[in-house]
Amino acid sequence: MKKIVRILLYTLVLVIVLAGGFVTFLEVRGVPKYDAPQIPDFKAEVTPERLVQGTKIASVQCMVCHRGKDNKLVGRQLTELPKEFGTIYSANITHSKDHGIGGWTDSELAYFLRTGVRKNGQYAPIYMPKFGHLSDEDLKSVIVWLRSDDPQLASTEEATVPSQPSLLVKFLCLVAFKPLPYPTAVVPQPDTTNVTEYGKYLVTGRYDCYTCHSADFTKLDMASPEKSLGYCGGGNTMLNLASNKIFTANITLDEKTGIGSWTEDDFRRAMHEQKNKDGHSLRFPMLPYNALTDNEVHAIWQYLRAVPKIENEVNRQYDVDLDAPQVASN
Ligand code: HEC
Ligand code: HEC
Repeated sequence: MKKIVRILLYTLVLVIVLAGGFVTFLEVRGVPKYDAPQIPDFKAEVTPERLVQGTKIASVQCMVCHRGKDNKLVGRQLTELPKEFGTIYSANITHSKDHGIGGWTDSELAYFLRTGVRKNGQYAPIYMPKFGHLSDEDLKSVIVWLRSDDPQLASTEEATVPSQPSLLVKFLCLVAFKPLPYPTAVVPQPDTTNVTEYGKYLVTGRYDCYTCHSADFTKLDMASPEKSLGYCGGGNTMLNLASNKIFTANITLDEKTGIGSWTEDDFRRAMHEQKNKDGHSLRFPMLPYNALTDNEVHAIWQYLRAVPKIENEVNRQYDVDLDAPQVASN
C-alpha cells in the first residue's frame, strides 16, 4: 500500500515538473519567429481603380482595428478580443519609416498579409487576419491604398505598443495557428457572373465574414474556410467596446436559429442599415457594410443560401444592456 502511495506521489511530482517545464518552454518560445522567408516578387502598380477598390476594402477590413489616436492608423489596444488572448495591440501602419510600413516593399506587404510572416520571420498570430484568399488584384488594391495619401496613413512617429499574448495564444501557435502557405499561382479575381462563387469569395476572401461568424476563432480552418467548425453558424464569443461578451449571429439559412426566414431585402438592410429583421440594431463588433455594392450584397445572399444550414441557437442578449460595464455572462 505504502509503495503505491509513493509511486503515485512520484508520478504526481513528475507530472508537475513536466507541466512546469512545458509552460517555461512556451513562455520562452513565445510567438514563433521562423527563418526569414524567401519572398516572391509582387508589385502593386498604382491605378485610380485600384485606389478606389483598395480604400473600400480597407474601410471594412483594416481601419477598424488599426485606427488609433487622432484618426491615424497608428494602432490601438484591441479590447474587443477575448481576454484569453492576452493584451493585444494592433500596429502603426502609417507611412513612417521607423514605426510604420514606410520601409516595407510591396512584396513584403503581400507576403505578410497572405501568410502572417514578416520579412524577419516573425509571425503574427490569429489577431492579425491573414488574407490568403484575397485575389491578387484585390491585394494590389489594398497595397495601393496603403501607399496612398489617405490622411489616416500620413507618417506618424508613434511606436507600436508590443502585444502581450497569453500562454494560450503561445500554445495555440504550437498546435493550431500556423502561417498560411503563400499561393504558388495567381489568386484570380472571381467570376462575377457566377453569383454563388462570387459570394463565396466575398464571405471567405474579400470581407472575411466567416472568421467571426463560425463557432470559435481557435477552430477556424483558414486554408479551407468552409471546413471551419460551425461554418457561418455563429456563437463565436467576442467582446464589445464595453468589454461585455457578445455572440456572433447564426447567418446560415436555418429557419429557427439562423436567417432562414429572412428575405433578400431583410439581408440588404442588415448590411446597409445595420438593422436585423426584427428591427434590432446590429451591435459592434458587427461592422457597418454600407460600402458594399448591391451586387456584392446579392452575391453574398445567394451564397449563404447554398451554405449548409446549422441549427445553433445563439443567445442574442436583447434583454441586456451591453453598454453597461461588465454585465453580460454566458
Ligand atoms: C482584427 C484586427 C485587425 C485587422 C482587421 C487588421 N489588422 Fe493588421 N494587425 C493587427 C494586429 C493585432 C497586429 C499586430 C500583430 C502582432 O502583434 O504580431 C497587426 C499587424 C499588422 C501589420 C504589421 C505591422 C508591423 O509593423 O509589423 C501590418 C502591415 C498590418 N497589420 C496591416 C493590415 C492591413 C493592410 C489590414 C487590412 C487588409 C489589416 N492589417 C487588418 C490587427 C488587425
Ligand atoms: C468582426 C466580427 C464580424 C464580422 C467580420 C462580420 N460580422 Fe456579422 N455579426 C457579428 C456580430 C457580433 C453580430 C451580432 C450583433 C448583435 O447581436 O447585435 C453579427 C450580426 C450579423 C447579422 C445579423 C443576424 C441577425 O440574426 O440579427 C448578419 C446578417 C451578419 N452579421 C452578416 C455578416 C456578413 C454577411 C459579414 C461579412 C460581409 C459579417 N457579418 C461580418 C460580427 C461580425
